Amino acid sequence: MKKKLVSLLTVSAMTMAMLAGCGSSSAPAAETAAPAETADTATQTAEAVADTAAETAEAVAETAGNADLADKKVGVCIYQFADNFMTLFRTELENYLVSQGFSKDNITIVDGANDQATQTGQIDNFITQGVDVLIINPVNSSSAASITDKVVGADIPLVYINREPDADEEARWSENGWNVTYVGCDARQSGTMQGEILVDLGQEKVDLNGDGKIQYIMIEGDPENVDAQYRTEFSVKALVDAGWEVDELDDQVGNWDQATAQQLVANSLSAHPETEVVFCNNDAMALGALQSIDAAGRKVNEDIYLVGVDALTEALEDVLAGTMTGTVFNDHIAQSHGAADAAINFVTGAGNDYYIGCDYVKVTADNAQSVLDSLK
Ligand code: GAL
Ligand code: CA
Repeated sequence: MKKKLVSLLTVSAMTMAMLAGCGSSSAPAAETAAPAETADTATQTAEAVADTAAETAEAVAETAGNADLADKKVGVCIYQFADNFMTLFRTELENYLVSQGFSKDNITIVDGANDQATQTGQIDNFITQGVDVLIINPVNSSSAASITDKVVGADIPLVYINREPDADEEARWSENGWNVTYVGCDARQSGTMQGEILVDLGQEKVDLNGDGKIQYIMIEGDPENVDAQYRTEFSVKALVDAGWEVDELDDQVGNWDQATAQQLVANSLSAHPETEVVFCNNDAMALGALQSIDAAGRKVNEDIYLVGVDALTEALEDVLAGTMTGTVFNDHIAQSHGAADAAINFVTGAGNDYYIGCDYVKVTADNAQSVLDSLK
C-alpha cells in the first residue's frame, strides 16, 4: 500500500477552509456582516485554534515522554552536507527526532561527501555500533540493493530518504517482508509543476521572440539521481503536453550546485542569447543562473524566465521580488518528519508501508509569501 504524507501547508489550508466553512454555516449572510457577530466568530475561531493547539501539544508531550526512544540509537547517512536542501532536511530531522523523545547524543548524522565508498564505510560503522535504526540518503541510488542487503542482513530496520531506489529494489522489500521503506516525493510531479508555471503564463508571454517555439536551456542535478532525470523530462513534457513547441539550446550538468550552474548558464547565455527559459533542477542552481542572468544584463519575467525546485528561502524571496519566475516547494518538513515517524514505527514494532510519499507545491508570486511564512 502507498501512504502519503500531508504537508503543514496543506493542513493549514484545510484548517482555514474548515474554519471558513464553520463561519458561514453558523450565521446567515446578513448577520455575518455585523461587527459583534464577526467578533464572536473570531473568538470562536481563536478558541478552536487554541483547542487544536492544546491537543497537538498533548499528543506531542505524550510521545516526547516516550522512554522507549530515549536510549535508542539512530544512524543517519546524508549523501553530502554541502547541499542546501539536504541541510534543511537534516536539521529538521534531528530536531524532530529529539522532540519525539530520542536523546541528541544517540543521533549520529554523517556526511557521505558525495562518495559512495565513504558512505558504505559509514554504514559498516553504524552496523558495528549496533544502531537500532538507519535513515539513509544514498550517494548513488544504484547502490541501494547492496546497502539493503547489508543492513537487512544485520537485522537493522532501514528508512531511505530523498533518493528513491528503483522499482526492482523496492519490490524486494515487500516480497521479503523486510523492514525497509522509502520516504520522499515523486520527482515527476515537481518537473510537471515547473513546466506548468510557464504554461500558466501563456505562450504569448513566454515565446519572447514570437517564433512559435520556446528556446530553453536545462541545468540538471546529478544525472544518476532520479530527481534530476524526472525533472529534466517532465518540465519540458508539460510544455509539449500543452501543445507548445520546444527548442532545446543547451543541456548541462550542474550537480545541484550554485557555483557550477552560474558558470554553465554564463556560457550558455553568451552562446545562446535567444534563450527564453532557464530550467534548473533545483533552486541552488537557479540562484547561480540568476547571477549570470543579471551579469548578462537580462531581466527575469521581462526578457527571460527562470524556474527552480525546493523553495529555498532565498528563492522564495526572488519569486516575490520578481527575479525568479517560480519554484516548487520540496517539503523537507513533511519528509523529515515522515522519515523520523517511520524510524519510530520500526523501533516500536509498529512497522511501515513500503513507500511513504508526499506532494510538491507549485510556487509563484501568488503564494510564495504563504510558503515563506509556513517555514518560519
Ligand atoms: C533533491 C533536491 C536537490 C538536492 C537533491 C539531493 O530533492 O531538490 O536540491 O538536494 O534532492 O539528492
Ligand atoms: Ca521563441
